[in-house]
Amino acid sequence: MSESAATSKPRLRESFSGRTAFILVAIGSAVGLGNIWRFPYITYENGGGAFLIPYLIALLTAGLPILFFDYAVGHKFRGSPPLAFKRMHRSAELVGWFQVGICFLIAIYYAAIVAWAAMYTWFSLTQAWGDDAEGFFFAEFLQYDGGGTEGSGISVDFVAQVGWPLIAVWILILIALATGVRKGLTAVSMWGLPLLFLMFAILVGYSLTLDGAITGLNELFTPDWGALTSATVWIQAYGQIFFSVSVGFGIMITYASYLKRKSNATGSGLVVGFANSSFELLAAIGVFSALGFLAVAANTAVDEVATSGLGLAFVAFPTIISQAPASALLGVLFFGSLTIAGITSLISILEVVVSSVKDKTGWSRPVSVAVAGGSAAILSVVLIGGVSGVTILDVVDAFSNNVGIVLGAFSAVLLATWVYRKLDVLAAALNAYGSFKVGPIWKGLIGVVLPVVLGVLLVMDIRDKITNGYGDFDTWVVATFGWGSLALVVVAAIGLSLMPWRSNSAMHMESPDHEQVEREKI
Ligand code: ALA
Repeated sequence: MSESAATSKPRLRESFSGRTAFILVAIGSAVGLGNIWRFPYITYENGGGAFLIPYLIALLTAGLPILFFDYAVGHKFRGSPPLAFKRMHRSAELVGWFQVGICFLIAIYYAAIVAWAAMYTWFSLTQAWGDDAEGFFFAEFLQYDGGGTEGSGISVDFVAQVGWPLIAVWILILIALATGVRKGLTAVSMWGLPLLFLMFAILVGYSLTLDGAITGLNELFTPDWGALTSATVWIQAYGQIFFSVSVGFGIMITYASYLKRKSNATGSGLVVGFANSSFELLAAIGVFSALGFLAVAANTAVDEVATSGLGLAFVAFPTIISQAPASALLGVLFFGSLTIAGITSLISILEVVVSSVKDKTGWSRPVSVAVAGGSAAILSVVLIGGVSGVTILDVVDAFSNNVGIVLGAFSAVLLATWVYRKLDVLAAALNAYGSFKVGPIWKGLIGVVLPVVLGVLLVMDIRDKITNGYGDFDTWVVATFGWGSLALVVVAAIGLSLMPWRSNSAMHMESPDHEQVEREKI
């Protein structure tokens, strides 16, 4: 950084030290729980090998284009989602706050899964779950009372063995966030990502040597070509891509706002998108090799043991770990990977909230972390650290993840294209320094294909939830924690977007085209 830029540093936005740091942090965000426990099962359920076709099409027509869109918004308008959208158009701030609210909701339960994974890394050393991984997880560890089903209520009674690790995860994340973009945020991915890739590579290599690995892989990849005619399969492919690439909910907008002006955002985006998908494929190979081992050992079919989400990580895997050779090693590799992947993603989800509060209020980073991160932490510990935590987690996840992310992405692309007419500006911003140039195809995807795809996804999902409720949960539980949490996000977003920008806020501190920013080195 030039001397003049250094002396005026407090007035400039924080930035990544360089392209490598940005790419690592962005990959750290993308590679998360969605890759390890969601992708393998989604692939298996939706046509096996044949699913890779809709998946690849979704990556090319939605994942990468919207990743570029998020980069363009953050990089061009140099702000967290509310600031960037406000700078795009004075009436667009609400979309930004909606995305921030979705991140706030996701962070509340994502942290709990990271804490559980960390505890299970420890439990792996002795296989503390014994012979009954399911009973141990729900009854002993979570002290879950089956809440939410007919006749029972919600209880937030603190569960010590869940609550304390959760508090520890929050302290770690808040400290990392408080130290800033160049320190905590970058350091976590700089250290975490190579370790994650190493551990995961060993895990996959090890899983491939297990008896039954081939059976699992055959089950996973045997193509069911008929699946390609099912709308659900295509919807699943697009849904997976959104969550997995971390697009549509403000993360990549925020990260791109920390890029130096002369940055190659599209080139970096291609690296991030393909790295994330490669990791996802690797995860599917590792997970299904292990599930094949479990099926062969239990003399049953793979579909009897294949599951996703909590069931895969905390029930199926502990069972595999107990039966496999070198149990403790396998456990530490699997749960350690899940913990690291979760931490690097969680930090990105929460940074959206912190950065937005900081931009709007002009508060220092530590104060913004204490207020924004602190309130997410308290809610997380109270709601998810309690006896009914897993119920609340499940319902909030289903609504924030599917409805929330898709609605946020849908509004953003629709408004930017058809109301504010900014696609040309965004394309020019990407092309100014990008090694991969975007043109009419990108504009067509963002302006036409994506609003249609996202609109269909949204309508189908909302209609399904209104008609069928969600899972076996009581209507009031779904209304309170599902629809209720989304309604709260909308109300909070409206309130925050109506609040004036303070004179010392980021809006007034640095214009997107600040001359000193222009002078920064590439
Ligand atoms: N992209 C992150 C994940 O896959 C959020 O978990």
